[in-house]
Amino acid sequence: MKSYPPNSINNLHKISVAPMMDCTDKHFRMIIRKISSKALLYTEMIVAQSLIYTEKKEQFLDFNLEEHPLSIQFGGDNPKMLEEAAKMAQDWGYDEINFNVGCPSPRVCSGNFGASLMKDPSKVAKCIESLKNNCSIPVTIKHRIGVDDDDSFDKLNSFVKEVANAGADRFTVHARKAILKGLNPKQNRTIPPLKYDIVQKLKKNNPDLLIEINGGFTNIDQCIKALSDLDGVMIGRSVYKYPLRWSEIDQKIYRENTTSKKASEIIISLVPYIENHLKNGGKTWDVCKHLINLVEGIPNAKIWRNEISARSIKQELSIDYLIKQSLKLQKMGF
Ligand SMILES: Cc1cc2nc3c(=O)[nH]c(=O)nc-3n(C[C@H](O)[C@H](O)[C@H](O)COP(=O)(O)O)c2cc1C
Repeated sequence: MKSYPPNSINNLHKISVAPMMDCTDKHFRMIIRKISSKALLYTEMIVAQSLIYTEKKEQFLDFNLEEHPLSIQFGGDNPKMLEEAAKMAQDWGYDEINFNVGCPSPRVCSGNFGASLMKDPSKVAKCIESLKNNCSIPVTIKHRIGVDDDDSFDKLNSFVKEVANAGADRFTVHARKAILKGLNPKQNRTIPPLKYDIVQKLKKNNPDLLIEINGGFTNIDQCIKALSDLDGVMIGRSVYKYPLRWSEIDQKIYRENTTSKKASEIIISLVPYIENHLKNGGKTWDVCKHLINLVEGIPNAKIWRNEISARSIKQELSIDYLIKQSLKLQKMGF
């Protein structure tokens, strides 16, 4: 069991890095922690049922202490399973639990959870109650502004009120609706239009609720603007693809007196972590697949990325080589 960090229940998380399957694993989160010590981080979605039945709980739950504040995201629709999952998350030392009802994946929705659950607010409320009654850490929810034809403001507003009554501590609203028939998950992140005004109206109607906006943010200035009338901004794809574009989060959003790190510094500071990962039987690619995105804007960035990728996929990337390549970056001022 991990030791407890200072509980984040009263911390206002102005910026968070979105849960993203196959992206926001513990290695990526370690990289992001070198960029911002403050942003709230999320795990990838974990299906509560899978966590309960797996023999490999540690694989699902493990994280590094440096990753705090860290939210674990659950998918599911069975209050009993969520009860157990909540206990595990708290025992393991997570700072909060997030419940996902924004995922439009057919696989997820066929289990009648993810975005399709938004059509059944009382079931969502039951799930939130189960989570809340079985832990003392915050329980938050991530959802869309609507699903299919259930996309009126009134529906959204009453959904949020019902879920708030069940005890949800924060609402992360992906500012586009989900279309469950006809669009795949990727299209569901681009085709339905972003409607920030709906999220702003939701906050105006519910000033006492913590409401975080998500969808389409690509720079810090946009976030600062959004924070003038909302409680938080969640950033997804842009942080994954261009992590260093977010290197001034701590200074500009949290008013911390720190200097932002360059790609070379971040890579070199991660060497002990990578060495330890290798010692425990991991592969360099586990970390390097995320790390290569740090290198942007240098001459021949693509060659640099390809070289690191090819060597680490073939398991031929030595730490010495990685350090040498990082020192080259440093010489170029990156
Ligand atoms: C590859 C990928 C995987 C995702 N996986 C999840 C997930 O596990 N849980 C979730 O709630 N959202 C997931 N999302 C959605 C993001 O959390 C976020 O809501 C979406 O990308 C919109 O934010 P953005 O425009 O800043 O990227 C995923 C998105 C991407 C691109």
